[in-house]
Amino acid sequence: MYILGIESSCDETSVAVVQDGAKILSNCILSSVRVHKRFGGVVPEIASRRQYDYIDRVYQRALAEAGIRQEQIGAIAVVNGPGLIGSLLVGVSFAKALATALRKPLVCVNHLYAHLYPPFFKKTRPRFPFLGFVISGGHTHLYLVKDFDTITLVGKTRDDAAGEVFDKVARSFDLGYPGGPVIDALYDPAQKAAFTFKCGQFLDGFNTSFSGIKTAVIFKKDTIERQQGNPLTASQKAAMLSSFQESIVQTIARTAIAAAVRYKVRDIVCGGGVVANKRFREVITAAAIAQHKRVFLSELSLCSDSAAPVAGLGYHLFRKGHRSSIHDGVFSTQPAA
Ligand code: KG4
Ligand code: ZN
Repeated sequence: MYILGIESSCDETSVAVVQDGAKILSNCILSSVRVHKRFGGVVPEIASRRQYDYIDRVYQRALAEAGIRQEQIGAIAVVNGPGLIGSLLVGVSFAKALATALRKPLVCVNHLYAHLYPPFFKKTRPRFPFLGFVISGGHTHLYLVKDFDTITLVGKTRDDAAGEVFDKVARSFDLGYPGGPVIDALYDPAQKAAFTFKCGQFLDGFNTSFSGIKTAVIFKKDTIERQQGNPLTASQKAAMLSSFQESIVQTIARTAIAAAVRYKVRDIVCGGGVVANKRFREVITAAAIAQHKRVFLSELSLCSDSAAPVAGLGYHLFRKGHRSSIHDGVFSTQPAA
């Protein structure tokens, strides 16, 4: 069965065709990130106008790359939240129009849950129940996943998301947007403990806090620059950012492993843009081995927002009887699990 996936929650416009939840036939992604770079972050109005202009072309291309005609689509899966409201509206309206015109069933998919799907495209798949960690620009959410539609939130950031902090710190260091990939590339293992920066952790469950470390890093930079009367040198920047990144990735990995132990699950699935981070991948993989856990990391091309995981998850939800109506709305915040 061919599922058409549509994702437009942030600055990407993505349409994919996935067969039986397992085989990606196409996964077309058009990003407007280049336009947003000069503003230092995503401008919602620009993102949604671009999506409105291009979604039809991305759809046509996804069908052409998959080599199918639109009549062959079995169902349409679309992200209806959480995300930018204008952006979501474009994808959801497009999906509803298609579902009506083609007389195909519609399945709404949660953006965050879709981030946990990429390992299901592989031969060796996670086993339920597993812990799912969504680590992205907008969310740092930890879930206990009992099935594709039985998901409970067990921890989250109390303030900034991990990716958001990468972006904000990079911005204050004049490193451009998005900041995660730049800080990742600057990482020097010899400097991972050059500075002591701590993330917040709470004793009640598996909640974290990243706004304190963001302020500490920016404050430290300003203090040193004031003392030396000059901007930080490249090596000072690299040392500070390596220590910052180390603290973030260690905190996330520690939280994931502790939750897996507490909930007595073997498998940990991580998805979202920050999962592309090389040091994070090393740290969580080593920590999982030490605790006899299995870790499944989204492959690099599927860490960020795209429609293939939406179609993949949509397939399983469809099989389980989920259907959405053209009267269902969009959610800028996370709909109830
Ligand atoms: O999942 P995503 O593409 O969009 C959201 O749903 O938010 O995540 C984007 C976030 C940005 O904050 C970006 O800086 C971060 O993922 N990111 C990274 C890396 N690549 C992207 N963070 C750390 N290391 C990376 N290599
Ligand atoms: Zn996302």
